[in-house]
Amino acid sequence: MEAFEGVLDSGYFILGPEVEAFEREVASYLGTPHAIGVSSGTDALVVALMASGVGPGDEVICPAFTFFASAGSIARVGAVPVFIDSEEDRFNLDLEGADELITERTKAIMPVHLFGRGAAMGHVNDFAKKHSLVVIEDTAQSLGASIATQKCGTMGDFGIYSFFPSKNLGGFGDGGLVSCADDEKAELVRRLRNHGMFPKYYHSKVGGNFRIDALQAALLRKKLPKLDSYGRGRAENATYYLHEFSDLDPARVTLPLAGTAEEGVIWNQFTLKVHGERDRLQAYLLENQVGCEIYYPVPLHKQECFAHLPAVELPVAEKLACEVLSIPVYAELGEERRQRVVAVVKSFFKS
Ligand SMILES: Cc1ncc(COP(=O)(O)O)c(C=O)c1O
Repeated sequence: MEAFEGVLDSGYFILGPEVEAFEREVASYLGTPHAIGVSSGTDALVVALMASGVGPGDEVICPAFTFFASAGSIARVGAVPVFIDSEEDRFNLDLEGADELITERTKAIMPVHLFGRGAAMGHVNDFAKKHSLVVIEDTAQSLGASIATQKCGTMGDFGIYSFFPSKNLGGFGDGGLVSCADDEKAELVRRLRNHGMFPKYYHSKVGGNFRIDALQAALLRKKLPKLDSYGRGRAENATYYLHEFSDLDPARVTLPLAGTAEEGVIWNQFTLKVHGERDRLQAYLLENQVGCEIYYPVPLHKQECFAHLPAVELPVAEKLACEVLSIPVYAELGEERRQRVVAVVKSFFKS
């Protein structure tokens, strides 16, 4: 409340000192020179694509098994999403055979760090270098995740993050952020965030209104120092589930991989793969008041809005869409509720 009152008294409601302080604090948390607060994770993707010069006719490689915004943002700047399959065990993009996707119009690649687990950035960066591609890391679900000692979102040209309330650092509305190491690119993102304006009322580029509110930044500044402890709470729940579910029949359900120390998973989701009876398990959990969600039931290459694109077969993405079910893993879940989740899941698999 004190932070909110500070914003109300300041009269700075959009951008301004609170946002600048938040940006400095996130940049320092990520260990990267620039963090630019924007209006949502989706807008962060759009503005990063715009700052990369991606536009009509260009192609951008991205996974089909992800939230819609990854590919939607590519289409929004007039470019074409070129879908790639995913790894069955890590849920992230699989670069096997990716050379064949390259054309003279391929401009960028968008690895998505899905469910709080880092994508294989070493391979992505080697591939991008080989084909001179911009790398935009969709880190909407993975702020705080790392690979070795480096935070996800800081290994490519741009990282984008979301503060949608269900994210590990959740706001009380929409919000997002772009990180980048390059001074000029960061300045371009800052300008594009505000209609490409510099100086005031002069526009050398067309941007948009991608600004973040000061109240949002004030809340997120209070929560940022607790982000790693929220992550530990999620990891503790995940470890508990992995232990409690270790005796479930692997022919019926596959548990997510436990993160290694090298990986630094932040467990945005705890996602089961249920073989052949996913929808029945979902109905059973809901009947028993256990929240659960299918992230994501339709892979993006099968979405109606992309039906005009050349048909591709992505067997892993298609299989995952039929098998995945995420159960509650948020830090505040508590002993009693997680025990109940375990009991209900186990009772389903007893039958
Ligand atoms: C992988 C991924 N990309 C992008 C976004 C977009 O973020 P936002 O909802 O803040 O626009 C989300 C969040 O919902 C997401 O999960």
